[in-house]
Amino acid sequence: MDELKPPQRLLLGPGPCNVPYRVLRAMSTPLVGHLDPLFMKMMDEVCQMLRQVFKTENQMTFPVSGTGSAGMEATFVNLLEPGDTAVVCLNGVFGTRMADVAERCGAKVIKVEAEWGQPLDQGKIIETLKAHPEAKLCAIVYAETSTGILQPIQEIGEYLKDKDTLFLVDAVTALAGVKLELDAWGIDACYSGTQKCLAVPPGLAPVSFGPKAIEVLKNRKTKVQSWYLDLTMLMKYWGSERLYHHTAPITMIYGLREGLRIILEEGLDERIARHAAAAGHLAKGLTEMGFGFWAAEGYRLPPLTSAIPPQGWDVEGIRKKLLADYDIEVGGGLGPAAGKIWRIGLMGENACVQKVAVLLRALQDFA
Ligand SMILES: Cc1ncc(COP(=O)(O)O)c(C=O)c1O
Repeated sequence: MDELKPPQRLLLGPGPCNVPYRVLRAMSTPLVGHLDPLFMKMMDEVCQMLRQVFKTENQMTFPVSGTGSAGMEATFVNLLEPGDTAVVCLNGVFGTRMADVAERCGAKVIKVEAEWGQPLDQGKIIETLKAHPEAKLCAIVYAETSTGILQPIQEIGEYLKDKDTLFLVDAVTALAGVKLELDAWGIDACYSGTQKCLAVPPGLAPVSFGPKAIEVLKNRKTKVQSWYLDLTMLMKYWGSERLYHHTAPITMIYGLREGLRIILEEGLDERIARHAAAAGHLAKGLTEMGFGFWAAEGYRLPPLTSAIPPQGWDVEGIRKKLLADYDIEVGGGLGPAAGKIWRIGLMGENACVQKVAVLLRALQDFA
C-alpha cells in the first residue's frame, strides 16, 4: 500500500474546515499517558480556555471524546429520564436529530416546528413552555448547519432563568464563530464540536453544564442509560479526582488546546467579527453572480451560507467539479434542499476575504 498523500483541499463545506498548521503540529508531538501529571495540567488548561470561549463559569466544562453528536447524546442522556417531557425545537436536520435522541431516552417529546430555512418563533416556543411547565428541558439548535439559520434564542433563555425547565443549546456551528454567552443568556447545557469554527479536526465535543443542570443530574432516579457518556463518572476523570474512566484521545486534546490558544490570541470578538465580514463578502459576490439564499434574510448564519445557484446551473455537477478540478469542497443540500442548494462554510481560518475570493473566482468559470 502507498503512503497516504491526500490533496490540499480548500474545505468550504459544513465542516470540517482546514486546520491551522499550529494545530496539526501540536498533534504530531510525542504522546504522554492519559494519567501523566503533564497531561492533567493540560486538561485543566483546556477546560479553562473552553470556559472562556463558552463565556461561562461552569465548572463542568470539558471535551467529551467523540464528535458533536456525542456532545448531543451526552446532554440528553444525562438530563432526561424515561417518562420526562422534553420540548424540542425543529427546523432542520439537527433539531430533528435532537428529537430522535430525546425519544430514545424515553422522553415524551413536544415538538415546536418551523419550515426549514425559516427561524423558529421564540414567542411560540415560550407559549409551549407555559403550557408544559413539567418539561424537564427545552432544546434548540442555535446554528442550524443544514439550513444556514442563526436562530435567536435569548428570549427563551430569559424566560427559563427562574423556571425548573432546563435550556439546552446545540452550539456545534456557533462556538467561536458567532456570539454565544452561556451564563448571560441562561443556557444550562450546551455542546459543540471541534471541526467547525474552533478549526480543530473532528473528534471532540466540548460540553458545558450549569448549576441547574447539575442539580437535575444529582436528583436522577435512574442510572444514566449510557455508561460511556455518564457525566458523574466522566467528571471523576475531568474533575479533581482524576480517576481513570476511558483512555482520553490525547492527540485530539493537544489539538484542541492549540486551537483554543489561537482563538484567545486573536480575541473572541475579533474572530466573530471576522466570520461576519467574510460571510458578508461571500454574500455580495454570490448575489452579483445571480445566486439566491435559502435561509431567511436577517437570520443568516455567517459560518454557513446556504446558497441557491442561478437557474440553469447543474447544482450537483458543478459541486463535484469544484472538488475534482479545483480542490474546493462545498457541501450539498440536505432533506428538502438536496440537489437544490450548496452549503458554503467559512469557518476558522477559512473565514477570510482571500478564501472567499478563491471560491468566487472558480465559480466564474461556470457562469
Ligand atoms: C448543528 C449541528 N449539530 C450536531 C452536529 C453533529 O456533529 P458531528 O457530525 O460532529 O457528530 C452537527 C454536524 O454537522 C451540526 O452541524
